[in-house]
Amino acid sequence: MQLKRQRRILVLPLIPQIPQLDLTLVLIPMALLGVNIDHVATVRQARRTYEPDPVFAAGEALLGGADIITIHLREDRRHIQDRDLKLLRETVPSGLNLELACVPEMIQIACEVCPNQVTLVPERREEVTTEGGLNVVGDTVRIDYAIRRLQELGIEVSLFIDPDQQQLEAALALQVQAVELHTGSYALATGSAQSLELDRLTAAAAIATQSGLKLNAGHGLNYLNVIPVAQIARMQELNIGHSIVSRAIFVGLRTAVSDMKRLITDASLVR
Ligand code: PXP
Repeated sequence: MQLKRQRRILVLPLIPQIPQLDLTLVLIPMALLGVNIDHVATVRQARRTYEPDPVFAAGEALLGGADIITIHLREDRRHIQDRDLKLLRETVPSGLNLELACVPEMIQIACEVCPNQVTLVPERREEVTTEGGLNVVGDTVRIDYAIRRLQELGIEVSLFIDPDQQQLEAALALQVQAVELHTGSYALATGSAQSLELDRLTAAAAIATQSGLKLNAGHGLNYLNVIPVAQIARMQELNIGHSIVSRAIFVGLRTAVSDMKRLITDASLVR
């Protein structure tokens, strides 16, 4: 799988003060950062003009340390356009993650463009952003068909689901390669409610990884709440958009991405 190949490993020489471990190397798998650049396209579409260009944003994000570029081509084309997808496929060498609704027209587009990963998401026209995870339990046939078509072309498929055991079991039965756990409820909660949401994420993550699924997460993550999620065992990829693009207004996209990347890298070191 393309994304597995680019999983980053940090090689640390162990502290020389511990004589028996001197010169030994520890391999620490790092969670990857997927930067969602939809919001750059949202600003452009506000004026129906050519700037800011999400293709330039992808370049800046990669220079800031993004491992993956994530975009959501919505059926209503409210932000990312078909032209963006085509150019990003040409300019992002690996690690292009395309979020899509599970409908024939969008699956056909993915089959033509061949991103590295497709994340199937629920989509409703009236929503401001993706609300809730995919209902895999209630929509098995349609999702199964989409997974087969994409996997036949070598595209890795991830399902965006709530941290819910039934949804995870349904995803597993479909032999998908990855799940992206919806972190929206965790991000919105505060105090003890947030701890409970983190427990839900951790429990779902354990089921996913023990079953061999690649573990991704995203939605609502920001500079203040990302660390506990990045510390979940075997977390492989975090997809983050709104908070990074918001911070980019003040510090520039490259810096906003590298700040987030550092938080995720440091968190990966102590899990
Ligand atoms: N992951 C998925 C599946 C999403 O739909 C979104 C929002 O487009 C994100 C991650 C990123 O969410 P946010 O913009 O809140 O960081």
